[in-house]
Amino acid sequence: STTRLFKVASIPGDGIGTEITAAAVQVLTQLAKAYGTFEFVFTEFDWSSKNYETRGWYMPDDGIQQLQRFDAIYFGAVGWPSVPDHISLWGLILPIRKAVFEEVKREYEGSGVVTDKMLVDAMTVRMVNKPQSLDTIVATNLHADILSDLAAALAGSIGIAPSANLDPTRRFPSMFEPIHGSAPDIAGKGVANPLGALWSAAEMVRWLGGADETAQAAEGVTKGPGVGRMAEAADVLMKALENVTANGVATRDLGGKNITKEVTDAVCAEIEKLV
Ligand code: NAI
Repeated sequence: STTRLFKVASIPGDGIGTEITAAAVQVLTQLAKAYGTFEFVFTEFDWSSKNYETRGWYMPDDGIQQLQRFDAIYFGAVGWPSVPDHISLWGLILPIRKAVFEEVKREYEGSGVVTDKMLVDAMTVRMVNKPQSLDTIVATNLHADILSDLAAALAGSIGIAPSANLDPTRRFPSMFEPIHGSAPDIAGKGVANPLGALWSAAEMVRWLGGADETAQAAEGVTKGPGVGRMAEAADVLMKALENVTANGVATRDLGGKNITKEVTDAVCAEIEKLV
């Protein structure tokens, strides 16, 4: 068969992390079904603050090794008011990130990319006053966590922004997650905006397709099912998100009145129309 199978580790985590991960799994499954050229097999890991409180650990000692056998990691959000944030951060998300890092600037030397070095406090001012002067920001984990929230809020809502923690060497699985946290204030109400989660899912499809296409090119395969279709699928998912939003189907953080499930179902219906 020409169906490409991708093993995805899903870590829903806490609060709305579980709600938006369910939305991402539903939409990714729908996208794969619509194309028929690729498929995702999800393995869920119950690494969360709730389980930390009974087990005393977020991730088992061999957690990173367990994740290494997957093609990608889909992450919801971790953190809950009952556990101090530094414990949830160091217990789960930072070990995965610090592995899934490279010196960035050196790679771009001589390529015409203009770089600029700024302190983080000045950067907040520049992002508010002259956001159009920035394409890419490279920062350490803590600073980037803060600046990405600011960027998302400037763009409309923290519920929209996606993120990807990429291993450019592709030796380890890359991780995809919306930038927001577990949102304890709205958790369990089914009203979380799934767009950031679904945009992250689109980035995952694009990244996995990149690997697919690279491998196929190495084998000399340039035509036929599977080739190039995941980049197209990622574009279709993004188009579906845009159309649904343009049609006014939106959660309340964007001024809409729809719940998570309605937005997610609308995205699935839109995918069916577009493919
Ligand atoms: P948060 O991002 O969870 O929430 C901030 C505000 O934005 C809240 O009012 C929330 O309701 C709203 N919001 C966030 N995502 C939304 C969505 N998808 N739709 C609609 N509204 C949304 O940040 P907060 O409250 O500072 O952190 C809560 C917990 O999450 C903490 O334990 C924190 O450590 C953790 N956290 C985890 C992250 C991760 O796993 N990558 C990132 C940020 C925070």
